[in-house]
Amino acid sequence: MFVLGPSLLSLALDSSLSLCAPPRELYSPLLTEKILQTALASRATQYPQYTDRVAGDWLYFAPDTWTSGFFPATLYAMYTRARLCNWDTENATQWLTLGRQWSTAEVPLESNNSVGHDVGFLSYPFVEELVINPHNETAISAVNRFASDLAARFSSVVGCTRSWDTPNPIDFQVIIDNMMNLEVLFVSAGLTGNNTLREIAISHANKTMRNHIRPDGASVYRPFQQKTWIESDVIAKFTAQGYANWSTWSRGQAWGIYGFSNMYKHTGHLDYLTTARRMAAYFLTHLPTDGIVPWDFNAPLDPPRPADSSAAMIAVNGLMLLSQQERSLSPANDTGASYYQNAAMQLLRDNTQLAWRPEWQSLLANGTVDNPQGNNLTGIVYGDYFFVKAGNDLLSMGVASC
Ligand SMILES: *[C@@H]1O[C@H](CO)[C@@H](O)[C@H](O)[C@H]1NC(C)=O
Ligand SMILES: *[C@@H]1O[C@H](CO)[C@@H](O)[C@H](O)[C@H]1NC(C)=O
Ligand SMILES: *[C@@H]1O[C@H](CO)[C@@H](O)[C@H](O)[C@H]1NC(C)=O
Ligand SMILES: *[C@@H]1O[C@H](CO)[C@@H](O)[C@H](O)[C@H]1NC(C)=O
Ligand SMILES: *[C@@H]1O[C@H](CO)[C@@H](O)[C@H](O)[C@H]1NC(C)=O
Ligand SMILES: *[C@@H]1O[C@H](CO)[C@@H](O)[C@H](O)[C@H]1NC(C)=O
Ligand SMILES: *[C@@H]1O[C@H](CO)[C@@H](O)[C@H](O)[C@H]1NC(C)=O
Ligand SMILES: *[C@@H]1O[C@H](CO)[C@@H](O)[C@H](O)[C@H]1NC(C)=O
Ligand SMILES: *[C@@H]1O[C@H](CO)[C@@H](O)[C@H](O)[C@H]1NC(C)=O
Repeated sequence: MFVLGPSLLSLALDSSLSLCAPPRELYSPLLTEKILQTALASRATQYPQYTDRVAGDWLYFAPDTWTSGFFPATLYAMYTRARLCNWDTENATQWLTLGRQWSTAEVPLESNNSVGHDVGFLSYPFVEELVINPHNETAISAVNRFASDLAARFSSVVGCTRSWDTPNPIDFQVIIDNMMNLEVLFVSAGLTGNNTLREIAISHANKTMRNHIRPDGASVYRPFQQKTWIESDVIAKFTAQGYANWSTWSRGQAWGIYGFSNMYKHTGHLDYLTTARRMAAYFLTHLPTDGIVPWDFNAPLDPPRPADSSAAMIAVNGLMLLSQQERSLSPANDTGASYYQNAAMQLLRDNTQLAWRPEWQSLLANGTVDNPQGNNLTGIVYGDYFFVKAGNDLLSMGVASC
């Protein structure tokens, strides 16, 4: 069961509620085995993105696809897991080798790609490499070049980085997902000291905060479109993958929770924290009683609306990040921190119970890639990535064991 409505919200804010345990599947040998099998099954030149709906086998895509960073990043996450779980050195080294091997086909994208703002997602494995080896030139170059690619999409008139290219050159589309890609600007600014990159991220986030979040409990539009490079009024707000232009697509809401929590982490601007809280409140209070994340919070119930386990896992990570920000306040907001921590854990349990699928190649099923395109009921590579990452973060925090 999940927390619903304002009265239960205040009840849950009572920090005496105990933290439930994470789902045991998150640390099962089967998880490790499946990731290893996928890593060894091909020559790492095509990347898994989502599965078919029946057998749950991965479908593979060219490197120049917005999702190609997630599988190598999952392998780096398994290296981290090997360290956290004290698996032997040889084991850890093997994961690192696989992560590096799977990053190689991404390197040429530094100088030529068609993923638009999603260079931030492509940078994930290189950002992980720098945690391990801060002097790795390949990774430094990848991060800096992906960041300058994103920065080159910034319009000082609009105040945002352009998300998607469109045939009409005066269209300037900005989608909520872009909040996730700002991280590469901060990482590159950290490496180079180039403060312009930070300023671009802040400007983009401020505009998104103003234009993408609705007053009614902070749900999002995706994408909205800004008029021209000369005149920056918003001319249209609509959805790309949601149920309707007025509805709340759950994955967009989850990207926003994570994205604004991350902006607060980098800047300390309280408006970002408030925005992340409002977006989290919308997400949590619109969940059905079984806690399963629907692909769109406003999609009709009949026929039954498919879930999106990837939205659930992104939200889990967003809520955990938000929880850490509450804890970082001075004085620490322990009540808020444990509220979001508990909410994340419950969301993780409920949606793992639904979506864990031992016989599939993906870890999780019940993902919705794009329902208007009929792409639902699949495994999704970023759902799996955020699932593994949540497991690592819980280990780091000492609230789970291997
Ligand atoms: C590392 O050790 C874990 C735990 O024993 C095991 O499940 C996994 O298969 C090993 N991984 C590799 C890459 O050898
Ligand atoms: C640097 O990282 C890349 C992947 O980004 C990897 O292929 C390479 O082996 C690494 N080099 C060193 C010296 O660690
Ligand atoms: C960039 O990549 C596209 C295909 O992904 C290719 O058609 C194009 O020729 C490449 N451009 C350059 C300058 O390499
Ligand atoms: C900082 O980054 C911006 C955006 O990529 C770029 O235009 C500028 O040249 C960079 N500044 C320096 C000193 O490298
Ligand atoms: C962005 O928003 C923050 C928080 O509201 C504010 O402090 C800052 O001045 C704004 N920066 C820009 C460039 O708009
Ligand atoms: C959203 O609005 C646009 C422009 O009015 C329209 O073309 C589109 O069909 C609408 N989308 C949905 C999902 O209703
Ligand atoms: C979850 O996926 C299974 C098939 O793998 C499907 O039968 C079930 O209806 C899905 N549930 C939801 C809530 O999407
Ligand atoms: C603590 O967090 C909760 C949940 O976000 C929030 O409602 C409350 O205002 C916060 N308290 C303080 C003192 O910041
Ligand atoms: C799920 O996708 C199928 C096509 O693959 C589509 O026919 C169906 O309407 C979708 N389900 C719902 C409830 O939207």
